[in-house]
This record gives sequence, C-alpha cells and structure tokens, in this order.
Amino acid sequence: MAGHEHRHRNSRIETSSKGDSAAPCVFTVARARLDAPPGERYRPAVMPLVNVAEYESRARDIAEGSTLDYYDGGSNDEITLRENAAAFSRITLYPRVFRGVGQRDTRTTVLGMPTPMPIMVAPVALIGMLHPDGEVPAVRAASKAGSIVTLSTFSVTPIEDVVAAAAGPVWFQLYIYKDRSASEALIKRVEAAGCGALELTADAPILGRRERDVRNNFSLPEGLWAPNLTADGALPLPESAGGGGSPFAAAFDMLVDPNLTWDDIAWLTSVSQLPVLVKGVVRADDAIHAIDAGAAGVIVSNHGGRQLDTAPAAIDALGRVAEAVGDRGEVIVDGGIRRGADVLKAIALGASAVQVGRPIVWGLVVDGEQGVGDVLRLLRDELDLAMALTGCRSIDEITADLLSPR
Ligand code: FNR
Repeated sequence: MAGHEHRHRNSRIETSSKGDSAAPCVFTVARARLDAPPGERYRPAVMPLVNVAEYESRARDIAEGSTLDYYDGGSNDEITLRENAAAFSRITLYPRVFRGVGQRDTRTTVLGMPTPMPIMVAPVALIGMLHPDGEVPAVRAASKAGSIVTLSTFSVTPIEDVVAAAAGPVWFQLYIYKDRSASEALIKRVEAAGCGALELTADAPILGRRERDVRNNFSLPEGLWAPNLTADGALPLPESAGGGGSPFAAAFDMLVDPNLTWDDIAWLTSVSQLPVLVKGVVRADDAIHAIDAGAAGVIVSNHGGRQLDTAPAAIDALGRVAEAVGDRGEVIVDGGIRRGADVLKAIALGASAVQVGRPIVWGLVVDGEQGVGDVLRLLRDELDLAMALTGCRSIDEITADLLSPR
C-alpha cells in the first residue's frame, strides 16, 4: 500500500500559481493553488459559490492553463459536449400547484439498493490525479453526501482502498480487454472488494479524438500507478502516440477490445455475480439487446461528449430508451446535468437516477473533499427545491406529465 501511495504522489498533476498580480478578490482567488491543502484553496467568504457553473469557473481559475483540458474537453468540435447541457434548457417544466409539498423526500432505490438521492457519481478516469490522496477524498465526500459512486478502471487508488474509505455503495466501471482472462481476474478482484455493480462501457471501442489532448500531447504521467487496470495493477504503456492520437489514447487502444459484440455481454453476465449496467447506450434497440443479453439495465450516455461527436444529447435520447426498457431493467442517464431541475427532468423522462461527472472534478479542484460534498449537496438541494416547485413530494411523483401537461 505504501508503494501505491508513493507512485501515486509522483504522478499527480502539478499546477503553478499565477503569481502576485494586483489586489481585488478575484485575483485572490486566482492565486489559489491546486496543490494547497484543501480548505486553503479559496476563501468562501470572498465569493461564495452558489451553483455548479460557479464551481466550474472557479476550478478554471485555480487550475489554469491546460490542466483541466483533459477533464473538461470533448471530442472533435465538442458539439455533443455542449448539447448535453443545452438540451436540458430546452425542456420546459409545467409545475403542478397545491400539492401540499411542505415535506419532501429524495430517497429512492437503484438496482434495489436504497439511496438517499437519485444523484450518482459517474466514473471519471484519472480524477485521483487532482488530489494528493487520489480518489479517496472524492469518493468519501460523495458517499457521505448520499451518492452511489462508480470508480473508473483508470483510477490511481486501489479499488479495495476506495471501498474501505467510502460511506456507501461503490460500483466499478469496466472495459473488456482483448485478454479475457485478464478481464476475468479483474472482475474477481472487484467482486472481492465488495463492489455492488459493474458499469460496462459500450461507447468506447476505441477512444474518441479529443483534440485538446492531441494538442497538449496529453500523456499518462511518468510512474503512474493504475492499480485497477488489471488484477495485478500492471500498466502496459506505449512509448508514444500511434495514429495521431494522444499517448493516453494509445495506451487505451493497446488494452481494450474493440471487437465486442452482444455475445461478449452475455459472457460477462455469465462470469460475474454482479449486476451489469451497459453504459453508453442512446438507442432503444441497443437497450433491448443489453437487457436480452442479461444486463440489469443501461446508462443512457454519450460519455460526456468525449466519444462520437454529434451523438444526441443524453437527455434527448433518454425517453425512447426508457420506454423500450420499461420495467425490464434500470435506466440511468448522464451528460450535462448541472442543476437539480435537470435531475428532475431526467426522472420525469423515465430515469431512476442520474450520474454527474465533471461537476465532481470542479468540486475537487476548488476545495478537495469539502468541494465534492458541496457540489453534491447543491444539486440535492436544487432537486428538493425543484420538487417543491413542481408539486412533487417524492421521487415517485416526478412523472412525465410535468413535461407535457394534461
Ligand atoms: C469520463 N467518462 C468515463 N466513462 C467511462 O465509462 N469510463 C471512464 O473511464 C470515463 N472517464 C472519464 C473521464 C473524464 C475526465 C470525463 C469528463 C468523463 C464519462 C463519464 O462517466 C460520464 O459519462 C460523463 O462525465 C457525464 O457527463 P458530465 O456529467 O461530465 O457532463
């Protein structure tokens, strides 16, 4: 374990301060440093952050330069990236009134697991590079705030340590490798660690072309320890980028099998005891394939706009998928959720829960563990308010008629 920590510390992204520019509070903020201890990165008294968008811009002030490009970026023209969020603002809510909303309850169940709120944390590769303690602070904060967390295969903290630090359920995001026995060994390890479900990513047979990463020649830091990539943590790293992509994309392509078919999903559900959610589905026919192959559900997602550009906004794809799945499986959605009302819209369109990705990155950059918890509490409070204002006392009362009234 000490060895893991040592390697991880070496691999952390370093940022530099902007130096001593002149006085106003915005510059005080700009001088904050990502490598300062959490709590010292900014002073809430200077400028309280009241929504996720403000965490986003504060994170950019703190991290500066290209540090956040890997996290914030999307593929090609970033049309899907922008559409994910923009599509929510095109959806109108028709509130019900006089519904006695003095008491509200955001509790629900996902895959039969009770959870205090329908806001989960999406798998975000390498988020642990943004904190000296790897993925632990983000996971701990998220589970304390009531989120089910899914750990990315590409994380820097061993899954066993993440589960031990969490205050709630941890799921694991999986890629199926060319070497199936390596995949099977990893799955056994994930099961033994106590994970509650697998999210099998379907929309990344090879990595999308993220032009910010190509421009920045984004590569895995030297000495990176990716302890959940394989059962023994070994990381086969190519020396350089192939085919004009980034070295990170080349590493991905070496390992992950681009030849998967639905038969492989049936293989996965046969070798694992855990429920499998197929992540990255935007079509009803694919959702049916997933359920028929033994998946417990699907995650409607376009990988946060990082894979196929001009794929539909996730929220626009949700309704048809949810209708096709019906009560045969779980439907979760992610992509562009930045407001509690977005969560409500997703539930009204048939999702049982949502996941958020980049907001967790921004919370972590701004204020470490505290920042992640704050972002999730903001979203939960906004959801609670949106429920009150649409006449919903419980998650069950968030129904489709809020979008097109009778
Ligand atoms: C991701 N996402 C992702 N998905 C996945 O299945 N495996 C992974 O390793 C990653 N890694 C990753 C890294 C970064 C930096 C981002 C931003 C995203 C996609 C993620 O799980 C989720 O689908 C999106 O992040 C949701 O969109 P928002 O909330 O970021 O808009």
